[in-house]
Amino acid sequence: MRVVVTGGAGFIGSAVVRHLLNETDHAVHVLDKLTYASTLTSLDSVSGNRRYGFTKADICDASAVKAVIEEVDPDVIVHLAAESHVDRSIDGPGAFIETNLVGTFVLLQAARAHWSRLPEPRKARFRFHHVSTDEVFGALGDEGLFTEETAYDPRSPYSASKAGSDHLVRAWWHTYGLPITVTNCSNNYGPYHFPEKLIPLMIVKALAGEPLPVYGRGENVRDWLYVDDHARAIRLVFEKAAPGSTYNVGGRAERTNMEVVLGVCAALDRLRPRADGKGYADQIAFVTDRPGHDFRYAIDCSRIEADLGWSQTETFETGLAKTVAWFLENEDWWGAILARNYSGERLGLKQP
Ligand code: NAD
Ligand code: TYD
Repeated sequence: MRVVVTGGAGFIGSAVVRHLLNETDHAVHVLDKLTYASTLTSLDSVSGNRRYGFTKADICDASAVKAVIEEVDPDVIVHLAAESHVDRSIDGPGAFIETNLVGTFVLLQAARAHWSRLPEPRKARFRFHHVSTDEVFGALGDEGLFTEETAYDPRSPYSASKAGSDHLVRAWWHTYGLPITVTNCSNNYGPYHFPEKLIPLMIVKALAGEPLPVYGRGENVRDWLYVDDHARAIRLVFEKAAPGSTYNVGGRAERTNMEVVLGVCAALDRLRPRADGKGYADQIAFVTDRPGHDFRYAIDCSRIEADLGWSQTETFETGLAKTVAWFLENEDWWGAILARNYSGERLGLKQP
């Protein structure tokens, strides 16, 4: 199949592209605006593949999107392009409305025009797969899990914009019959993770000898999934799931932020001990909490396990060890980001 991947130069998108080119015969064309969050070097290992193509374009640009879709003539569109960082959505929500809402609308219209002209059986087989987040469901207390039936209750500009994009995608199925699928996934981590997010930020700050900023008391809980397990789930859903269906994807790995940061410190203590003999946990510093900080996310992923036979291959402990080792071996990759795009300053404290 020919697959267009929007946001393929980002963290999860590049994992999807590497997975599809390494593990399938699909041809993959990346459509990406190359924002601050993108790193084309994440695609270096596959960019020489004859089945790989790339166009720099904004998903809000209808004529550019139309041109790519006409050129590639895809069987599947996997939509990951988004503004993805909650803290940045607090500082500047406008870009989240533009890309996540308007961009998704533009892409849906282009996909629909393309799909409506496809001959059978390609028309029946076409999929628009939308990659979304568990944050659309809001925040949990100490108990309970998000299922596919949980009502939407987004709390941050980021999650509200993703919730809106999910509604648009489902509306294009119900109204126009565009064959869509949706996945709502928990927090990802792994290689090529942009160092504004918790785990990579803690790794690079620990190595720089800087304080490790834990918001509030570090008691908030996230459900962590290794990024390659997410990439496999996305492929399974667009290859096998019924049009109109939704799947939750999660790691069955709930951890408080303190547990995560202590896990990062322990892995670094093992793999690259501090020269002064002290532990990296000495660098932990509690800082002002994120405004509107969702307390807990946790996913019930039994539907994708039962229907499609998906399961994760990494536990949080094996995945975190691999991730820390990868960051130690790939300082060039994140060093270039720190020098050029983002140097680790605190984001998301601006009040209106
Ligand atoms: P990311 O920020 O690492 O990458 C986003 C990519 O989209 C970048 O390459 C960027 O250049 C591109 N992009 C942004 N705006 C664009 C535009 N207007 N036009 C074209 N390209 C544009 O994000 P990520 O963490 O890889 O997340 C990918 C998707 O998965 C997002 O839709 C996100 O909401 C969703 N998601 C993320 C997580 C997570 O833990 N990171 C969890 C669940 C779902
Ligand atoms: P993040 O990686 O931004 O993902 P999300 O907000 O989408 O879940 O943050 C994960 C958790 O870590 C979240 O509860 C906020 C917290 N956090 C910190 O404590 N310190 C930090 O420097 C960052 C970036 C996040």
